[in-house]
Amino acid sequence: MAKVAMLGAGFIGDFYTFSLHGQRNRDRVHIIYSRDNERGKAFAKKHGIPRWTNSMEEAINDPEVEVIIIGLPNNLHLDPVKLAAKAKKAIFCTKPLARNAEEAYKMLELVEEAGIIHGYLEDLVYTPKTLKSLKAVKQGAIGQVTWARSRETHPGPHSNWFWTKPVSGGGVLLDMGCHCIEISRSYIGKDIRPVEVMCWADTLVKPIEAEDNALGWVRYENGAIGQFEVSWSFRGGMDLRDEVMGTDGTIWVNNFLRTGFEMFTAGGKKGYVAEKAETEKGWIFPVGDEVVELGYTDMFTDMFRAYESRKSPEETFYDGYIVNEIMDACYRSAQSKKWESVNLRTWRGMEKAPKITALQDYDENYLLVKEETMPDSSVKIILKNKKTGEISQTIRR
Ligand SMILES: NC(=O)c1ccc[n+]([C@@H]2O[C@H](COP(=O)([O-])OP(=O)(O)OC[C@H]3O[C@@H](n4cnc5c(N)ncnc54)[C@H](O)[C@@H]3O)[C@@H](O)[C@H]2O)c1
Repeated sequence: MAKVAMLGAGFIGDFYTFSLHGQRNRDRVHIIYSRDNERGKAFAKKHGIPRWTNSMEEAINDPEVEVIIIGLPNNLHLDPVKLAAKAKKAIFCTKPLARNAEEAYKMLELVEEAGIIHGYLEDLVYTPKTLKSLKAVKQGAIGQVTWARSRETHPGPHSNWFWTKPVSGGGVLLDMGCHCIEISRSYIGKDIRPVEVMCWADTLVKPIEAEDNALGWVRYENGAIGQFEVSWSFRGGMDLRDEVMGTDGTIWVNNFLRTGFEMFTAGGKKGYVAEKAETEKGWIFPVGDEVVELGYTDMFTDMFRAYESRKSPEETFYDGYIVNEIMDACYRSAQSKKWESVNLRTWRGMEKAPKITALQDYDENYLLVKEETMPDSSVKIILKNKKTGEISQTIRR
């Protein structure tokens, strides 16, 4: 059993505590830090937490606390890491790890120099569907991944600080692009180097300085492409969908909206439906167990198992740093309108990853390009001559 200091009594602090305290879990929040004592006290009462404080230092240095969880706005991720490193306590930080790669790298250096366990709380690579898909990909079920597309769109975040660039560090690209980038990276292979990016980002709808819509492509060294699509102006709830294309298969994942649980209510559901739902009347799309479906439960299982066995979880500050570095390159590309290289300060994956190849021999003279059964039941076979390179076709009846 580990005792936790939860930093932040807002939206994510709530979700994290619900998932930690759910299912008779043995890890407990021992102290909640909120800058407002009344809010902290109310949070503690709601979740059965023995202590609350408006001092971050007090929460982190509480002698019974072993693990710190950061659930604060993006500009407040670095300070608690400094304090946890000094106290030599394990630390798990929400996404994005930082506002930019420089800040993220500082955080990585701090935890590694202190030798403490660190985890990057990227819940969306831990959704039950994603975990199962990633396992299938690792077992070779869809061959080599060529393209992993990930989308997160909703009508915009729930607190003022997200919309304030100096505090948040950026708009939707930073806030939700981080999820999509790490999802695609997980499918393509976290040991494959992200090389360059192309990104479009614009402020289409909201009266803000940062971007409210962004699309981008991350090219990996083996030739695979990670595509992300994010929006803070999508109407209709929260859309979390991924598509993975491999040389031998395809995976489509819908994590949240319209996943098979639909309800019609003429009078209204009378309260919360699901994260970012826009209506509680008419046809609505609730979610069975939100903390499970969004990956929080499996994420914390990995994090606390790692803590207990003094090992690294699947997602560490290093992963968070890589994602921040990719997003920095995306911001440069959105400005330059050109492919921009991802300039990693440290790379611990494969050097010179081999290009994706899926060449199929037809016979000793030809490679198979494509075989298709036509409407008249004949089979058309497209071939490439190995010596001349000529493309030809033959029909089998
Ligand atoms: N899926 C996810 O993993 C996910 C989802 C939502 C938010 N987040 C992340 O969690 C972090 C917090 O977001 P949130 O949604 O909980 O925001 P929120 O606004 O709901 O809560 C933030 C909390 O921090 C407190 N706070 C704000 N400014 C402060 C300050 N200057 N000093 C001390 N406390 C302050 C607020 O009072 C509130 O309790 C962000 O980094 C966000 O990106 C992650």
